[in-house]
Formats: sequence, C-alpha cells, structure tokens
Amino acid sequence: MNSESANSINSPSIKIGICGFGTVGGGSYNLLQNAGDEISRRVGCSIDVVRIASRSLKLEDIDTTAIISNDPFDVVNDPDVDIVIETIGGFDPAFEVVHQALANGKHVVTANKALIAERGNELFAVAEENSVTLAFESSVAGGIPIIKALREGLAANKIDWLAGIINGTGNFILTEMAEKQRQFADVLVEAQELGYAEADPTFDVEGIDAAHKLTIMASIAFGIPLQFDKTYTEGISRITPEDIGFAKQLGYRVKHLGIARRSGNGVEMRVHPTLIPRKRLLARVDGVGNAVLVHGHAVGSTLYNGPGAGADATASSVIADVIDIARQKLAGLSKPLLPALGYLSMHDDLAVLPIDEVETEFYLRIPVNDVVGVMAKISSILQDFDISIEAVIQKELDSKTVPIVILTHRALESKLNSAIAAIEALSDVSGEVMRIRVETFDD
Ligand code: HSE
Repeated sequence: MNSESANSINSPSIKIGICGFGTVGGGSYNLLQNAGDEISRRVGCSIDVVRIASRSLKLEDIDTTAIISNDPFDVVNDPDVDIVIETIGGFDPAFEVVHQALANGKHVVTANKALIAERGNELFAVAEENSVTLAFESSVAGGIPIIKALREGLAANKIDWLAGIINGTGNFILTEMAEKQRQFADVLVEAQELGYAEADPTFDVEGIDAAHKLTIMASIAFGIPLQFDKTYTEGISRITPEDIGFAKQLGYRVKHLGIARRSGNGVEMRVHPTLIPRKRLLARVDGVGNAVLVHGHAVGSTLYNGPGAGADATASSVIADVIDIARQKLAGLSKPLLPALGYLSMHDDLAVLPIDEVETEFYLRIPVNDVVGVMAKISSILQDFDISIEAVIQKELDSKTVPIVILTHRALESKLNSAIAAIEALSDVSGEVMRIRVETFDD
C-alpha cells in the first residue's frame, strides 16, 4: 500500500454502534478516534462510530457526529449499524440487546464475560443461525489476545492445561499485601478508584469474575460447551498477610489462579488462591497484570502476559475484534470464518470433574495450643488418609497458640477434607485449618 491517506482508500466505511459508554465503551470510542488512521490503513476502509447508547452521556460531553440516545435498542435496530459493541455489562438488558442485534443480522463485539460464560451457548447459536460473528476477545484478560492465541495460534495442539492470573483487582490486592503489608480492604478501595474492580467488587474478590473468564478459556482450550455452573470458585478474602508470609518462607508466592486441565476422562475447572514456586514466571506477575500459561501437547508451555483491566487495554481487544469482523465483511464472507469456540465438532463427552476428585499439593495452616504431642497427632491423621508431608514450619507467635504450617505431597481433595475434619476435632487445635492448594507447573 502506498502512502496515500487511509481515508482516501475509499472502500465503504464500516459503521459501529456502541451500547454502554463506561470505562470500556468510552475507551473503545477513544481508541477508534486516536488510532483511526492506523486502523484504516490495516483494514482498508474507515471505521466510524455512528450511534452511541448511554444512560449518562450527553451530546455536549464528547465531540462526535454519532447519534446519541439512552436506549441501546435504538442502536441494534438501526439498519445503518454493521457492528454493535456491547459494553453495558451484566445480563439485563445486555442479553436482550446482544440477542436482538444478532437476530437483526449484526455482528456483535462484547467485553461481557458474565454474558458469554453464562449465556454464551444460547447467544452463539443465534449468531450461527444468522451467519454473524459474536466476538469476545476483551472478555478475558483485558488487553492480552488470549482468545486468539488459544483458538487460532495453538489450534494444532491438544491443550493439556492452562493456568492464569485473570483478575487484575485480585492480583493487585495480593501484590500490595505481599509487598507493602497493606490490609485487604484498603487495597480494594484503591482498586475501585483506579477503575479495575467490577461494579460489585465481590465478583473480583470471591473469584466469580475469574470463574467467568476461566469458563470461557476452558471451552476454547478443550472444545467443551460453556459450563460456568461447574467451575469450582473460591476467592481471596480469607487469605491473610500471615499466609503470604509463610508461603514466602517456603519459597512460594500466593496467586489467585484459574486452572483448567484435562484429567483422565474429564476436565478440571477451578479458581482458587494457589501457592506457586517463586521462581515461576507466573509467580512474578504483579499488580493489575494478568498472565495465562498454556501447555499444548506439541508446543509445550507458552506464556501470555499483559494488562488485564483498564480502559485502553480492554479497548485494544475490543477494537481488534472489530477489525477482524471488518476484514471478513470486506472480504465478502457469507458466514464467519471461525466457529465461536474454535471447534466445529465439540467434545460433549468430556465431563467436568467435581473438586473432590481433584488432586493437588496443599499448604495447611493449623492453629494449635502450644502443647507437647500435637504435631504427632496431626501427622498420624494425615498418614491415616495417605497424605504425606513435604515440609513443616512451627513458629511461636504469642504465648498460647502457635500455627503449624505444613506442605503436603499430592493428595486427593476428598481425603484432605476428611483429614482436616479430623484435625479440627482435636482438642488442641484451636480454630479452623486454612488450606491453600499448591501448583508447581513442572509437568
Ligand atoms: N474487574 C476485572 C479485573 C476487570 O479486575 O480483572 C477486567 O475484567
């Protein structure tokens, strides 16, 4: 292509309608304005925002030729709009808005991980019936193109497992707690002020947001339907600075991971705090950063790292989807080039394993009265359930109680649960046992 300006390339323009003008919707609009010339040079025509629906935006707030209204259905029912960007979030009215847009034959780009994880199976069927694309790169790991990597870059591989730090807010909180000994609640307020946290931050700290993202990645990795309700989900709100400190002494960092793994005849899908050896790259992803480690049978391990939240980073993925669709439209394809989840024939027979059937190593923190013989009783219980000990720390914190910290070798979750119940029943155990799963990623 020569150096003539992109606007003089003079193909028909692609017309965009944006529904929801918050952090991501506004960021996507700004990116199209700032990088419009570069994008037009890549695509071969201009991409113009012609409609915006927002509950709060007023015409005078931005310099635009787009028609602004407060009803997203004005956008999806406008015959001029080719691609709808859905950045409303949640289900109501987002589900109906996306459904209507697809039924109207419009392509949709969404950043809405809850919508894809929980209602994606239905919406992809509507997209297919109408030969349009429902794209969702920005729904997982913000600016990291992980959907494209899993669905296209690694398409020749049987994916063995993947593990990701996929909630920026949670990672920001854990990092600040580890490095600056800050309190959980105080860091959460800062994450909200920085625009990382969800409208309801319990989605971040209780792992729901990460479970949405893991559900989506697992479907693409293994070719299974989206099954959010089967993803085991545990948040970070019970993690204490004490646990972070003990993990450090043992050579580990505490990270909130989403893990999906082929295991026997099924797949594991789980989100929980995890001890990772500090020498692993994943253990060194800090702040709002996200990273996903993927193991394919042919390629081995590959790591994708970058910003997982924030207006510009997420907009980068939204607009990449818009560009993909624009290219396919300009190429005159009568239906999308790729199946939404990357498989034409899904592995419907792969069952999601209940967490009881998952095997990992464990970190245990057991509050005990400082009396002779308690460690022997705990060891004996662990032995009864075939759980062997890899390391122990016992340190005096005050005069009456001392936590015993144990790292176990691999054990089945159901056996560990039984062992913990027996340990908590001991008269010299003074409170609940804290358990954190351990992953070494050396397989
Ligand atoms: N609240 C999410 C996070 C935003 O902190 O990762 C990006 O999905």
